[in-house]
Amino acid sequence: MKALVLAGGRGTRLRPLTHTSAKQLVPVANRPVLFYGLDAIREAGITETAIVVGDTGDEVRAAVGDGSDFGLKVSYIQQEAPLGLAHCVVIAREFLGDDDFVMYLGDNLLIGGIADLVAAFQSSAYAAQLLLSRVAEPQFYGVAELDADGAILSLQEKPDVPRSDLAIVGVYMFSPVVHEAVRAITPSARGELEITDAIQWLINRDHKVHSYLVSGYWKDTGRLRDILECNRILLERVEARTDGTIGGRSEIEGRVVVHPGAVVEDSVLRGPIVIGAGTKVVRSYVGPFTSIAEDCVIEDAEIEYSIVLGSSTIRSVPRIEHSLIGRDVEVTGTSRVPNAHRLMVGDHSKVQLRA
Ligand code: TTP
Repeated sequence: MKALVLAGGRGTRLRPLTHTSAKQLVPVANRPVLFYGLDAIREAGITETAIVVGDTGDEVRAAVGDGSDFGLKVSYIQQEAPLGLAHCVVIAREFLGDDDFVMYLGDNLLIGGIADLVAAFQSSAYAAQLLLSRVAEPQFYGVAELDADGAILSLQEKPDVPRSDLAIVGVYMFSPVVHEAVRAITPSARGELEITDAIQWLINRDHKVHSYLVSGYWKDTGRLRDILECNRILLERVEARTDGTIGGRSEIEGRVVVHPGAVVEDSVLRGPIVIGAGTKVVRSYVGPFTSIAEDCVIEDAEIEYSIVLGSSTIRSVPRIEHSLIGRDVEVTGTSRVPNAHRLMVGDHSKVQLRA
């Protein structure tokens, strides 16, 4: 069994971060979301892994390397453009050979791992195995329609009128017959080779496609609110640990992780939160479900339910919530008149100011 991890794509829903970075490397609880998937692959006993990369390939290569840190043997497949999930299978043909494989979307988080599912698939004669999860807004996902016995009747990709609320989770298992399917289909209206079309092709030809309803937590982190929710779920699991320095009149409540070299002074930290290595928190409040990466400065500021990437500064700002702040960003307050907001904001950014 091999693994094919998809870490290319456009990432339009996470602009502007994805103008400069891979969305699969956005940290949740201060660890790139992609890393949790790589752990799950290893825990399922798979080592041979290929990662499909696009424009942000260099960054993904630098982060994952040869995979040895994860106990994996990782190679890379460059996709010339985001031509669809099934296109990734087409270009991975040589790597995959005639083995069964797991296809893991690098921006998906599935808590609880995939070991049991991989074992179940390996002892089955299924052509493909899907995981399904009930969602509130199925129109944003691939959706499966089941018959009364739970067999898949049809699949739809981001449908205007979903036939069910069962979203297809971004972890698929395939036998080599899928190679016939991905070569047989043609691009969809949005110009992509859709994996849902390939699976529908298998179903139409009476190949066995099995589905499981996942019981654990699953999230596709393609949108800001989903990333923040994943961050919350993962922070719920951290264990308190202080390797940095906490001084002055600071108050620490709940599960707080302070990494080595971080300095906290005269501040209130209310967990669960993670403060990255080398970060300074001074005269500030950091509230629940916040991950602050390495080498940031939080000074005379309040922040809660947010993610801050490395080397950013937040100074003299009364309250930031529900926010994702990129690398090397400065968010500062001013007491100068006129009392106005001054912005230099990149393309496709979203700024919500208090009216
Ligand atoms: P999506 O989130 O479906 O697509 P996207 O990355 O283009 O994002 P958006 O809709 O916001 O523009 O992709 C799921 C995963 O698969 C993600 O990790 C990116 C990856 N992917 C590829 O590697 N190649 C592709 O051709 C596509 C479409 C996605």
